[in-house]
Amino acid sequence: MIKESPPLEGTVRVSGSKNAVLPIVAATLLVEGTSVIHGVPNLKDVQVISELLRYLGAKVSLQGETLTVDATEIRELEAPDHLVNKMRASFLVMGSLLSRFHKAKISLPGGCAIGSRPIDLHLKGFTALGAEIDNKHGYVAANAMDGLIGGKVYLDFPSVGATENILMAASLAKGVTIIENAAEEPEIVDLANYLNNMGAKVRGAGTNTIRITGVDKLKPIEYTVIPDRIEAGTYMVAAAATKGNVLIENVITDHIKPVIAKLTEIGCQVEEYDNSVRVIGPKVIKGTTIKTMPHPGFPTDLQSLFMAALCIADGKSTVTETVFENRFMNVPELLRMGADIEINGKTAMVQGVDTLTGSEVVATDLRAGAALIISGLMAKGETKVRNIYHVDRGYVDIVGKLSNLGAKIYRVEE
Ligand code: UD1
Repeated sequence: MIKESPPLEGTVRVSGSKNAVLPIVAATLLVEGTSVIHGVPNLKDVQVISELLRYLGAKVSLQGETLTVDATEIRELEAPDHLVNKMRASFLVMGSLLSRFHKAKISLPGGCAIGSRPIDLHLKGFTALGAEIDNKHGYVAANAMDGLIGGKVYLDFPSVGATENILMAASLAKGVTIIENAAEEPEIVDLANYLNNMGAKVRGAGTNTIRITGVDKLKPIEYTVIPDRIEAGTYMVAAAATKGNVLIENVITDHIKPVIAKLTEIGCQVEEYDNSVRVIGPKVIKGTTIKTMPHPGFPTDLQSLFMAALCIADGKSTVTETVFENRFMNVPELLRMGADIEINGKTAMVQGVDTLTGSEVVATDLRAGAALIISGLMAKGETKVRNIYHVDRGYVDIVGKLSNLGAKIYRVEE
């Protein structure tokens, strides 16, 4: 439940990156011994991948923000549907299992609300490394009897998940693997740093060509994950939308350049410091143009959040989604709150209105849910966001963090 809130003020600390930690946890399967990961956000998605690793035989425990994984004894190389269908990122264990044990069988991750999300590029990578793929009865079985052998793979789209899966697969392969048109996201760089600390030889992560020279063995290490750039962006937009003044701590400003650029364009004052960023919202938000792109373009995960703020902008905005096919699902919810938005294919035209009105709305996915929370902060009256479990998948204590900034928000059990 959210009530119209005063301008947000104060300091908020960003947690470790969900999208960086998931592949890193999958990478712990590459080694015998105990890996220790710090800065881990205690989120539903992290619990799901931990549960999957335990099923495979690993010993996993999370204490505070430190996750310990002992993957010495892996007895199961098959990940069943009930563990994979909860979260698409579960498919990331394929690369590690295939690399270390030369085979794996994983339930096919289903489509999800924001689009069909195929895995063809992951499989293209495994095939280039010599694996035989059998994709039937809802399972993908991959086999490389004598181990994987380095190869060249061109990704038709710079898929984040495919790049990560291939990076892990190539780490223990024989010879050199080259990924062309690789994803360049900061989470890819974090995974590459993690692998290199383990003894892997990954070069070029963060560019569109990554070269991995396979090694015989990796060692378990202790590592701290990067801060969550999407969580940071969320609080930055919340500050802008409520015309507030918020210091966001634990931020790598290099990771959020497109966010800083767009917030500045809509009239915010953004001050960058070493480890933090201050956002001062404008009196009136200006309309703008947003087009989501793979990194370093504008992140698709912040599209719905910016759209929420643009609903009350002065003038027209256009928001174009190019990464996922179905990421305007919160538009009908925003319309219920009085927004003026028209969708035309991949583009939403947002005509700013004076104010939104509190309504009962439904979170359709993680980021859309967070966007509705921000809309609720701006809206007159009371907003009830249902299916908030989507938001809990990706935000550590969003209610507590926003409350600390002065938001009128609380949880209601249903
Ligand atoms: C990751 C992020 C997600 C983010 C997305 C894009 C995690 C856990 N999730 O998801 O938050 O929104 O990157 O930045 O890190 N595609 C194919 N074939 C494939 C794989 C992907 O066609 O084999 C397509 C997808 O359908 C989608 C696009 O590529 O349209 C981007 O997907 P991808 O980059 O793979 O996203 P994820 O890794 O699933």
